[in-house]
Amino acid sequence: MLITLVSLLLLFPLSHFFSPLAATMVIPLTAFIAAYVLHDRFWWKWMHLCFLPLLIVCSQFDIQSYWYLLALLLCWFIFGRVMISRVPLYLSNRAALQQLQGIVPEQANFLDIGAGTGTVLHYLAQHRADLNLSGVEYAKGPWLLGKIRLPAKVAWLNVDYKNVDLGAFECVYAFLSSAAMPDLWQQAVQQMRPGTLFISNTFVVPEIPADQVIDLNDWKDGKLFLWRM
Ligand SMILES: C[S@@+](CC[C@H](N)C(=O)[O-])C[C@H]1O[C@@H](n2cnc3c(N)ncnc32)[C@H](O)[C@@H]1O
Repeated sequence: MLITLVSLLLLFPLSHFFSPLAATMVIPLTAFIAAYVLHDRFWWKWMHLCFLPLLIVCSQFDIQSYWYLLALLLCWFIFGRVMISRVPLYLSNRAALQQLQGIVPEQANFLDIGAGTGTVLHYLAQHRADLNLSGVEYAKGPWLLGKIRLPAKVAWLNVDYKNVDLGAFECVYAFLSSAAMPDLWQQAVQQMRPGTLFISNTFVVPEIPADQVIDLNDWKDGKLFLWRM
């Protein structure tokens, strides 16, 4: 967001000294380079490169301003506070679900933090009847979908996982983002009981090697990282 704001602020002085067309070419390139240096994921630089040209293309059409507001509200509905949490919505795939089915301890109280649309809980409810399932999801849209699809025995909360006591669970599963992992690890260390299991899909905890790594053998080279607390 910072890169985008700085780029847009540059637009006015640059348009003054160069032609507007030259300015609109220089700014996406600057944003592209900044994103290349600052971001850890490859798609960001392409988003920054395309943002301003897309803005200019859209401004050529006679689109009513309320459509932009609606788009913003829709993003909030689906992704919640993604600009703060830096955790977007994407779902665990079949390979992860099948592995989880085998590794979650018997009779465990299981919690999915940032549970999205309830994909993991829905699968485990069908394949592991012994588990006591809970999920927390902050964004309203995915939470509503989960509310509709999940059986009533699943505890399904529309809250921030930072306000949930992880000490009540024998197994906690997270599929969040690298930005969330350091704080989440601190929370897990403080709250989870000795011998319980913390699982992260894809994202490692910096400087804390996992006790076990399970390769998902999928197209994105996904892995489950397991820590015995
Ligand atoms: C990558 S999705 C994972 C969905 C699900 N766990 C799965 O594996 O299919 C991460 C979800 O975490 C939610 N989230 C991010 N920060 C959160 C927070 N602090 N409290 C609750 N949910 C959060 C996001 O809204 C997003 O839907």
